[in-house]
Amino acid sequence: MERIGLISKSNIENIKSRYKLNNIRTSKTYRNFQDTKQDNFSVRKIHKTDSQDDYNLLSFSNMGSDSEYFKDAERIKKLEKQMSIWLKDLNKLKREKEITLEDMIKDLTKIDEIIKSHGYNRSNLIQMLLDIQKECNWLPKHVLFYISDKLEIPLTNIYNIASFYKHFNLEPQGKYNILVCMGTACYIRGAMNLLQRIVNVLEVKPGDTTSDYRFTLDTVNCLGACALGPVMMVDDKYYTNPSTKKLKKIFSKFN
Ligand code: FES
Repeated sequence: MERIGLISKSNIENIKSRYKLNNIRTSKTYRNFQDTKQDNFSVRKIHKTDSQDDYNLLSFSNMGSDSEYFKDAERIKKLEKQMSIWLKDLNKLKREKEITLEDMIKDLTKIDEIIKSHGYNRSNLIQMLLDIQKECNWLPKHVLFYISDKLEIPLTNIYNIASFYKHFNLEPQGKYNILVCMGTACYIRGAMNLLQRIVNVLEVKPGDTTSDYRFTLDTVNCLGACALGPVMMVDDKYYTNPSTKKLKKIFSKFN
């Protein structure tokens, strides 16, 4: 008998794909548990059948929510979550370093041109920031320092403006924006489910950017296509309620 870990009833589909199972034949024991409130099961046996890829899970047993196995699974889940946060932070640091080494001089030349086009006029600060964001896709720290120095505006004033307006991004943004409509018309037709599918596929929360800086996920109140709801928009293209499979296909087109 080989114990391979804990699964929950709601996790059957994941288990099937993870162990390349065509079908899961549930045992009588498992079917009995389906009527109970317990949701945690330990997979006790895996039997390999004649076919190389085809395994059947033969028996399940209820381990109870306070079992050691359940606690281990919870710990692993927490660690995985923490690691993905660290990985994201690391990617951010890596990107900042790359900017410092490779792009800073190029950035500052462009910023100089933008400031010059506004006649070095401090009262045009918001318009300058808009132009800079259009150029860089976000407002990097070194750029804000440079503007502060060049126009003799306290850095705190620039930060206050940049953080007050939602339009300004102080974090690196993805190459492509995904906007999911949460307006009433889309919401009642399942916008929450669509958003959850995107979160699952890209492993990113609304308002965040994927670790490879390919996509930034955001929600909006209307995309002006209420009759098609629930809708999402990627790089100015509309998509109506795509399934998980279709989402993967759509995202793979944006490189
Ligand atoms: S409410 Fe979703 S597009 Fe208008």
